Amino acid sequence: MNNPFKVTGIDFYQNRSAANWIVLVVSFLIGGGSIYYTSILVEKIRIREERLISLYANTLEYFANEDGNVNFDFIFEEIIVSNTSIPVIVTDEIGLPFEYKNIPEADDARTDVERRNVLLRELAIMEAEHEPILITLRNNLDEVTGYQYVYYKNSFLLTQLQYYPYVQLLVIFIFGIVAYMVFNYSRSAEQNRVWVGLAKETAHQLGTPLSSLMAWSEYLKSDSNEQNREMAAELDKDIQRLEMITSRFSNIGSIPLLTSQNIVTTIRETISYLQRRVSSRVEITVSSSPDEVINAEVNKPLFDWVIENICKNAVDAMAGAGRINIGISKDNEGKVFVDISDTGKGIPKSKTSKVFQPGYTTKKRGWGLGLTLVKRIIENYHGGKIFVKNTEMNIGTTFRIVLKS
Ligand SMILES: Nc1ncnc2c1ncn2[C@@H]1O[C@H](COP(=O)(O)OP(=O)(O)O)[C@@H](O)[C@H]1O
Ligand SMILES: [Mg+2]
Repeated sequence: MNNPFKVTGIDFYQNRSAANWIVLVVSFLIGGGSIYYTSILVEKIRIREERLISLYANTLEYFANEDGNVNFDFIFEEIIVSNTSIPVIVTDEIGLPFEYKNIPEADDARTDVERRNVLLRELAIMEAEHEPILITLRNNLDEVTGYQYVYYKNSFLLTQLQYYPYVQLLVIFIFGIVAYMVFNYSRSAEQNRVWVGLAKETAHQLGTPLSSLMAWSEYLKSDSNEQNREMAAELDKDIQRLEMITSRFSNIGSIPLLTSQNIVTTIRETISYLQRRVSSRVEITVSSSPDEVINAEVNKPLFDWVIENICKNAVDAMAGAGRINIGISKDNEGKVFVDISDTGKGIPKSKTSKVFQPGYTTKKRGWGLGLTLVKRIIENYHGGKIFVKNTEMNIGTTFRIVLKS
């Protein structure tokens, strides 16, 4: 019997995680490239802005030292106005602003005091960003008469550009997460349809021959022949087994009814049934006493199936002989824990979540669907949890089921 998930000789799940890595690496390359490219752009613009501002300072110095009262305002304006983006403040020797450009907040100020406060605040920011440019004032005799300072900071454009790649990355990241969630959701919706459809169909198909078998059994029971009546009794056992399978499939194919029941009894029943079917060298025990009552919300046919699957795996892991113990407990919050421990070969630590994936098996004749089904029953149908609580190579494994009470 071949494992259908391995027909191509490639482990699909191994490949999926490789694909995830490729996507991750490519996104990092794109993100890194985008940041790198923008940082080059930012650097170029920064140099340009610095040149522009030093041209501005030179112009200021030139006109300040120019003889006569020629009104050069228009040239002044040319250079200043051409600078429509870099915020600038010119101060006197002791650092009081007397001229500014491209500070809309100061333009909007209603009083002089307000304006001055805005400028002083801006000045502090500018000082932290760039060294101010010194302008030396001289008189006709070329003697130094005073100084002025030109403070400036990066233009809004440059500041925006610096943050742009991060904003871009954030948008891509959010988009990626949303896309991933939608994809995952639609995939799990599809898986649901397959599980449910297949289970319903199986239950339905088993129904007809089963009712026919029941009729035959009834017929044989009323037979006068002793041997036929004995046969009918044997037949009934198989019919019961088939009925159990049918009810499992029909429960998984619909929204199963959960009822609150004493799972100590439920589990004990399942165990006594199982114990008859496994080698006598495998001992299955329940650590709580038979009269203990621990209630949990379960669907009996499905929960039996879970216990059976986990115990069968445990038996398989124990090369013929060993012990399975089931511990049942409840915490203060009303959570019920079912711990199934075995003395088997253990699961490698790296595989403890993989064992639940469809198609994962280490058995020659395994399908790797047992634990997938178990997880599905516990999580989707009981709103609970299942995980490998503990495992040690060649010592044993403990699976924990968490249920609601
Ligand atoms: N109690 C256990 N001890 C060791 N290995 C286990 C145990 N339970 C499950 N496994 C591992 O998980 C795999 C998947 O189990 P399962 O989904 O039931 O599929 P299958 O039984 O068909 O292999 C098994 O092949 C085995 O390697
Ligand atoms: Mg199995």
